[in-house]
Amino acid sequence: MHWNKKYSQLTQKMKSSMIMDLIEKTQGIPGFISFAGGSPSAETFPKKHLGQLFKQVIEEKGDDILQYGSSGGDKELKQAIIKEEGLSVGLDEMQICSGAANGIYNAMRTLIDPGDIIIVESPTFLGSLVTFEAAGAKILPVAMQADGMDLDQLNDLIRKHGSKKIKFIYTIPDFQNPTGLTMSLEKREELVEIALKNEIFILEDDPYSKLRLAGTPIDSIFEIAGKKYHSQMLVIAIRSFSKLLGPGLRIAYALADKKIINYMDSWLQKVNNTTERVSQQAVAAFLDKGLLSSHKMLITETYRPLLKQIITSLQAHMPYDIKWVNPQGGMFLWLELPEDLNTDELFDKAVEQKVAFLPGSKFYPTGYEKHNGLRLNFTFPTKEQIDEGIKRLSKAVKILMSSPNSGFHFLD
Ligand SMILES: Cc1ncc(COP(=O)(O)O)c(C=O)c1O
Repeated sequence: MHWNKKYSQLTQKMKSSMIMDLIEKTQGIPGFISFAGGSPSAETFPKKHLGQLFKQVIEEKGDDILQYGSSGGDKELKQAIIKEEGLSVGLDEMQICSGAANGIYNAMRTLIDPGDIIIVESPTFLGSLVTFEAAGAKILPVAMQADGMDLDQLNDLIRKHGSKKIKFIYTIPDFQNPTGLTMSLEKREELVEIALKNEIFILEDDPYSKLRLAGTPIDSIFEIAGKKYHSQMLVIAIRSFSKLLGPGLRIAYALADKKIINYMDSWLQKVNNTTERVSQQAVAAFLDKGLLSSHKMLITETYRPLLKQIITSLQAHMPYDIKWVNPQGGMFLWLELPEDLNTDELFDKAVEQKVAFLPGSKFYPTGYEKHNGLRLNFTFPTKEQIDEGIKRLSKAVKILMSSPNSGFHFLD
């Protein structure tokens, strides 16, 4: 048996593993600055409280919570979330899942058969793209605009492909990953109207809305569909504690019609049986103690100066031709270079300057890649690293622009 051959047949070279390779390539280099990851700042993790609460829940409830639990999640956590968020949903309209990634997977498996169509914002979160592609779904992109997805393009796609095969529209309305853009209230309402008219579900992925650093909050699509259109069942909302309390906890939740939740629970049962119960109970206790609101303030106080710094540094150092829209929160900022420049090529030049980012091509469905964008994370590096890192990145951009085939003649 030729095991090497077997393994090479098994290994799928997917976008996500290519990104891991990119990130690993730059780890451990002294003085290296990375804007590449999607990690919150470890400084914001509520380690002291969670440490106490994990100890407490294991001591008090260990016999129960170290056992398997209900696939839909523990009722204590569901109740705590409903109270904290002021939600008007029943316990059977919520699933506790192992991170948003797991909830997105369960929703997708519930709605999609191979060959079905999913409409996504373009660019969009790569983790969801690889999940959708792995299930054999056909993915159709709709361009992002400063106020959210291009709804004229969405209407055109629905007209062209018919609403029967299109199972859902996937959107990240707040501080989108990777662009940092937020969908306006008007567009959220119009999107609900389009989805209702054509009987297409909306999968609303929301890990970032609570990381608002400027401006006023906008109602979620789930809320709008329920309150204004009395059609809450149109939307499956996925919300996560990953960016608030730490992604290692693996705690998120889905809100949807109870029939959908029932199917999603049976997918969760098949895939991972039960969401981490000790984490569920510790998060429930964290919410019950009323710790979340002050914790959210700590996070926004930590991130606000970092966002301010990255914008100041970009304004100070980037060449004129580089464009971006200032995000009002979240963790990412998207840069657009002139169309004939390729950020996959820029990556190597940036690594030579000891700085990394994620090339934009990774955030498009296969076959629809664009190459002139890039994603910067501003929540992981320190303020000082942000300024130095943007200086280095600007230098790499100028070097790329000055290369003989670029069409630019830019020298420092
Ligand atoms: C848009 C989006 N959805 C989902 C996830 C996955 O989050 P979780 O850690 O809750 O699985 C992420 C993580 O970066 C994300 O950016």
